[in-house]
Amino acid sequence: MANVVVVGAQWGDEGKGKIVDWLSERADVIARFQGGHNAGHTLVIDGTVYKLNALPSGVVRGGKLSIIGNGVVLDPWHLVEEIRAIQEQGVEISPEVLMIAENTPLILPIHGELDRAREEAASKGTKIGTTGRGIGPAYEDKVGRRSVRVADLADPATLEARVDRALQHHDPLRKGLGIKAVNREALLDQLRAIAPEILRYAAPVWKVLNEKRRAGKRILFEGAQGALLDIDFGTYPFVTSSNVIAGQAATGVGIGPGAIDYVLGLVKAYTTRVGEGPFPAELNDADGERLGKRGHEFGTTTGRKRRCGWFDACLVRQTCVTSGVTGIALTKIDVLDGFETLKICIGYDLDGTRLDYLPTAADQQARCTPIYEEMPGWSESTEGARSWAELPGNAVKYVRRIEELINCPVALLSTSPERDDTILVTDPFAD
Ligand code: GDP
Ligand code: IMO
Ligand code: MG
Repeated sequence: MANVVVVGAQWGDEGKGKIVDWLSERADVIARFQGGHNAGHTLVIDGTVYKLNALPSGVVRGGKLSIIGNGVVLDPWHLVEEIRAIQEQGVEISPEVLMIAENTPLILPIHGELDRAREEAASKGTKIGTTGRGIGPAYEDKVGRRSVRVADLADPATLEARVDRALQHHDPLRKGLGIKAVNREALLDQLRAIAPEILRYAAPVWKVLNEKRRAGKRILFEGAQGALLDIDFGTYPFVTSSNVIAGQAATGVGIGPGAIDYVLGLVKAYTTRVGEGPFPAELNDADGERLGKRGHEFGTTTGRKRRCGWFDACLVRQTCVTSGVTGIALTKIDVLDGFETLKICIGYDLDGTRLDYLPTAADQQARCTPIYEEMPGWSESTEGARSWAELPGNAVKYVRRIEELINCPVALLSTSPERDDTILVTDPFAD
C-alpha cells in the first residue's frame, strides 16, 4: 500500500485535476489538504468537461471517498453551488462519498469583500492579483483564532459567539477601508440557513483517514495551487495564503508525515502564472502568445489570461526539493508541437552573478534575468500519444533533458486534456 501526494511544482494550473482524476482510479480516498475555491481544476472525460474549485477531483469517479481536509478554507455557499452543478452533470454526491473535516475554517462573505477591497485600494506594484475569493482574509482569521469552523455550525450559541469575535476584528478594518459595518443578523441567518447542508458532510476526518489507512486503503492527497505560490517558499508576497508544498498534506488532514510514501510533482512542459509577481522566463512576444493560444491558458476560476513563458528548470529543481518530489507528471508537452526551437531556463543572471536558484528577496527576484539553453523542437504531433514510441525523437530528448536538469524522473506524461491520453512510466501507487 502506498499513499501519494500530488503537488503543483510551478505557479499552479499544471494539470493537477486531470492527473488526480486519472490516478484516483488507483486510490480509495482522495483528500484536499489546502487552498480553497481559488483553485480551478478542469477534467475532460470522454469529451465531457468538468470544472471543480473546492471539490476534490476524485469526485467524478464513482465509489471513491472524497475528503475536504482542515487545511482547506471552505466557502459553504460556493460548495453547495458546486455540488449542485456537478450533480447536474450526473455525478452523485452524498455523505457516503464526501466528507468535510469538522475543524475546517469557513470563508464568509466578509472575507471576499475584504480581499477585493484591499486589491482595489492597492497601489501599483503592491496588488497581488488574487482570485478575490477571500482566501487570504480567511486564513488570516484562522491563525488569528477568530474563524467560524464547520463544527461551530451545529450549535447556535457557539455560532453567535464566533461571529461576534470575528466582527470585533472586521468592523474596524472595514471602516478603515470605507466598507459599511457587517449586518450581524443577516450573516447569522445566512449561516444558519446553510448549516444543515454542510453539517451532513461533517466528519472527524483525521480519525476516518487513520482507520482507512489501517485497513490498507490507498490515499491520494490532492494539492491546489503550486509550490511557487506557497506562503513560505513562493514568490512572497505574490503568493497565496496557505502552505502548498507537500509537507502540508499531513497537517492539512491530520495524518503523520510517515503516511506519505510518494510525492508526485505536477509540471507543465512550459511555465504559466496568473496574477502579479516575478516571472523570469516570461515571454511577451509571439512565442508567449502562441503558448497561451495552443495551451488555452485562461484561468478556470477567474477567466484571466495566464502569463506564459519557457520551461524554467531552475524553479522546478527548487520546488522538487522543497516538496521532496519523488517523480513528476509532465503535462502539456503537446502544446510545444511545431516550435522550431525550444528554450529552457537553466539559471539566472543577477547583477552580473550567475545563480542556480531563485533568491528570496523580492527585489532580487524581480531583477533576475534568465539564462537559456536551446533545444531543437519537433514538427510532428504528440497530441494524444499514449506510449513513448509515439513520441518524436526530439520530444523524448526534451523530456530527458528536463529530468536531468531538475534531478527528478518523469513518472507520468500527459499529452492532451483527455483523461486517458496519459503515458505511465512509473506507478506512484506501486508498493
Ligand atoms: P490545475 O489547476 O493544475 O488542475 O490545472 P487547470 O485545470 O487549471 O489547467 C490545466 C489545463 O490544461 C486544463 O484545461 C486541462 O484540461 C488542460 N490539460 C491538462 N493536461 C493537458 C495536456 O497534457 N495537454 C493539453 N493540451 N492540455 C492539458
Ligand atoms: P490551481 O489549483 C493559479 C494565484 C492568484 C494570485 C495568488 C493569490 O488551479 O492551480 P489568492 O486568491 O489565492 O489569494 O491569490 O495566487 N492563484 C492561483 N494561480 N492556479 C491556482 O490554483 C491559483 N490559486 C491562486 O492568481 O496570483
Ligand atoms: Mg487551475
